[in-house]
Amino acid sequence: MAKVTIDDKEIEVPDGTTILNAARMIGGDIVPPAMCYYSKLKGSGGKCRTCLVEVAQGSAKDPRPMPKLVVSCSTTVQDGMVVKNTTSPKVLEARKGVVEFLLLNHPLDCPICDQAGECDLQNLGYKHGLSKTRYEEERRTFEKIDIGDKIQLHMTRCILCYRCTYVADQLTDKRVHGVINRGDAAEISTYIKNAVDNDFSGNMIDVCPVGALTDKTYRFKQRVWFSKPLNAHRNCKKCSGKVVLWQKGEDIIRVTSRRDKNNEVETAEDGKVNWICNECRFDKKQASDWVIEGPTHIERTSVISQNHYEAIDLNKLRLEVQRQQRVQGGRKDIGEKYTQEQLPKAEQTEIFEKQKQLGAYRG
Ligand code: SF4
Ligand code: FES
Repeated sequence: MAKVTIDDKEIEVPDGTTILNAARMIGGDIVPPAMCYYSKLKGSGGKCRTCLVEVAQGSAKDPRPMPKLVVSCSTTVQDGMVVKNTTSPKVLEARKGVVEFLLLNHPLDCPICDQAGECDLQNLGYKHGLSKTRYEEERRTFEKIDIGDKIQLHMTRCILCYRCTYVADQLTDKRVHGVINRGDAAEISTYIKNAVDNDFSGNMIDVCPVGALTDKTYRFKQRVWFSKPLNAHRNCKKCSGKVVLWQKGEDIIRVTSRRDKNNEVETAEDGKVNWICNECRFDKKQASDWVIEGPTHIERTSVISQNHYEAIDLNKLRLEVQRQQRVQGGRKDIGEKYTQEQLPKAEQTEIFEKQKQLGAYRG
């Protein structure tokens, strides 16, 4: 076991754990962002540099700091190591530079990109990016390619994280795509535009951190934050059958795998990763195909939570409304006439209306 301190928080982790995974065990804001590392894909990481951290003390035996920032997804902890992430101005400055590099060629087409609202690069740009670009040269562009009838590759948006190639390598039995060429000319390609066509190829869409690989059956149907995500399952012989259904009105417009707190496909209790097969993803779009479990939990930090409709704690909501009213001029508390028990429908509606006016509480 090794004791490591990350942004002043100490944790003991098994030997061989990377700094990033140690930070994930602590959780919260100190976890470095990761655009290429994906814990469920062997060999991933080391490509994007977004997870850079400062090692202020190498280990208890050798307390010298590491001379340069290191990639936390590939650097293992040592006993007594002290790491700085959000507490290091050097890291924050470097991360800004990395984001600027990632955005050199990435188009700022979020208003028309299907990934908007759930794009890791968009989130990273908001958190660590600059508001202006200094890049004046022409961006490299590519034609869109259909890889099979269900997946579209928009290489112009690709940040070459290689996650999709690992999915192809590790999850499918017939890898027909990879990275060709080098440097500025590097691109994800299916040799001779082969269709990517096997049972688990759709998982490439879920691991792609940007909008480079999108689901053709869902493209342009609806902005993700207007959709209602529901957890559902079915008995599937090929995969876990545990999914998120994305609804527009009563229609299911998209099926995706379920995500964990690191925005990766979740791991089941038995240790298996809940990858989903193409049949569940593309062919089961009727509510009758699924057993619906209830609303998917969406973090409040996500733009998708704007229209979140998870069961609301009405008492909590009432207290919040009262607080807001007090702040706004000491009007009579709306909650006074209600008991702590479940509120009747009319009062619920009244509270929701009040909530809307005050903009006080969103799911
Ligand atoms: S297509 Fe997406 S997953 Fe594949 S390398 Fe590009 S950014 Fe990564
Ligand atoms: S996540 Fe570490 S280099 Fe990309």
